[in-house]
Amino acid sequence: MSLSQSNIPEQFQINKLVNQDTYLVDGALIPWRGETSNVFSTISSTEDYKPTLLGSIPTLGKKEALIALDSAVSAYNKGQGLWPTMKVVDRIACMEKFVEQMKTKRAEVVKLLMWEIGKNLPDSEKEFDRTVEYIYDTIEDYKQMDRDSAKFEKNSGVNAHIRRGPLGVVLCLGPYNYPLNETFALLIPALIMGNTAIFKPAKHGVLLISPLLEAFRDSFPKGVVNIIYGRGRTVAAPIMQSGKVDVLALIGNSKSANALQNQHPKSNRLRLVLGLEAKNPAIVLPDADLDLAIDECIAGTTSFNGQRCTALKVLYVHEAIVEEFNKRFSAKVDTLKFGNPWEDGAKLTPLPEPDKPAYIQDLIDDATEKGAKVINAKGGETTDNYIFPAVLYPVTKDMRVFQEEQFGPVIPVVPFSDIEEPLDDMAESNYGQQVSLFGKDTKTLAPLIDTLVNLVCRVNLNSSCQRGPDVYPFTGRKDSAVATLSVHDALRSFSIRTFVASKDNDYNNAILKDLLNSRASNFVSTDYIL
Ligand code: G3H
Repeated sequence: MSLSQSNIPEQFQINKLVNQDTYLVDGALIPWRGETSNVFSTISSTEDYKPTLLGSIPTLGKKEALIALDSAVSAYNKGQGLWPTMKVVDRIACMEKFVEQMKTKRAEVVKLLMWEIGKNLPDSEKEFDRTVEYIYDTIEDYKQMDRDSAKFEKNSGVNAHIRRGPLGVVLCLGPYNYPLNETFALLIPALIMGNTAIFKPAKHGVLLISPLLEAFRDSFPKGVVNIIYGRGRTVAAPIMQSGKVDVLALIGNSKSANALQNQHPKSNRLRLVLGLEAKNPAIVLPDADLDLAIDECIAGTTSFNGQRCTALKVLYVHEAIVEEFNKRFSAKVDTLKFGNPWEDGAKLTPLPEPDKPAYIQDLIDDATEKGAKVINAKGGETTDNYIFPAVLYPVTKDMRVFQEEQFGPVIPVVPFSDIEEPLDDMAESNYGQQVSLFGKDTKTLAPLIDTLVNLVCRVNLNSSCQRGPDVYPFTGRKDSAVATLSVHDALRSFSIRTFVASKDNDYNNAILKDLLNSRASNFVSTDYIL
């Protein structure tokens, strides 16, 4: 059966392959005639299951990677480049041009988000819109930062003009679950602060960058943004080995982050901005509003099939209420609709990684061998590209599903009688991003909150974990993050305070006055953008 005969709405059909045959280096889309890799969707377009071919990407090698690096290094040009020395207002104008062009590509990007990573239509649209909003918020925040630094300070007879300056060359690598939003939440602040970048899209969610390549090329000076394709080991490793990368910006897992940072010959020179794995727990106390807790735990565990770093990945439920919780929670999980991303009301959608269902099945098998049961009727039902979320109970520490970040549809429930049990587990865990706490009695909640804030970086009271709103700090302890991201914090993470100091005397002050009046320096300036 051909695509046009299937049930796929016309606007979402793949009628033309996206064969990405260029890559962006030094301000030009360079044609690629070498080896390519096909990009498949795990969504079938035919009645008999078959992955759908979406297009292809260049398989670049070390040589092309190092040329892209050189391009970023020359654009930075030891801090003398056009971009790092440009007036803030001019850098902002480039970013505004980019976002205007980006907005025209919404439909194409949203369609590819659905096909490449299986994200449902409302969430794909949300990912695009949230990213556009993030760019505008970043521009506004940068203007404020610039206004705040358009002044001199005087202390102990020294005048100082302090601003935030760029760090240099950034290698930017994003994840498959938010291939647009998370990647841009790194790339955009890195660029606007005056850094230059080499960006390699994620393995899944790569073609959706294609509609934006021209916008990148047309909006920024040459070499400021370089976009390459290929295997991480082949292209990212030599870039790191060169020692010319100043910032590694990566959303992914600590294994790849460690492997990459270890390639850098001078780790002291390397700044890290990392969003890594997490195993956010929910703790449901005996006096919790069960309807609310169940709804939030459903959203927390199953949104985008649990493929969110902020997903709830283990549920601790007090033994006094666990039976009732399990009954109602597992019944509700079974009501969730599975479907292709464009289908109305599809909450569960195909998994983009072909081997994910088998991995989740392994976790289920391991847990059931060690004494847990699948307590929902549909749990573990498998199709070619999906495995229905299994609610596993009772889960114990020796099970893999307790230890590993499942990043997929399986929900471990752990009963507890003493609050010290989940607290001890969290303290021992390698992760420290967020927690959800469900309960009402303030005498119980108060000391718990005071402890939990020291174990993770966000305590969500009676709600599931999430990154947003993007103005709030997004970070984690232990293996969960390095540096903080929020609209404002990201600007700080990708910059350093640098300043001009001069002794407060007539000789120096006359020079400063002349610098200001002549507007000859872009740094020493008290002009600001309204
Ligand atoms: O994958 C991790 C994302 O940062 C989660 O963001 O909480 O908005 O889904 P979210």
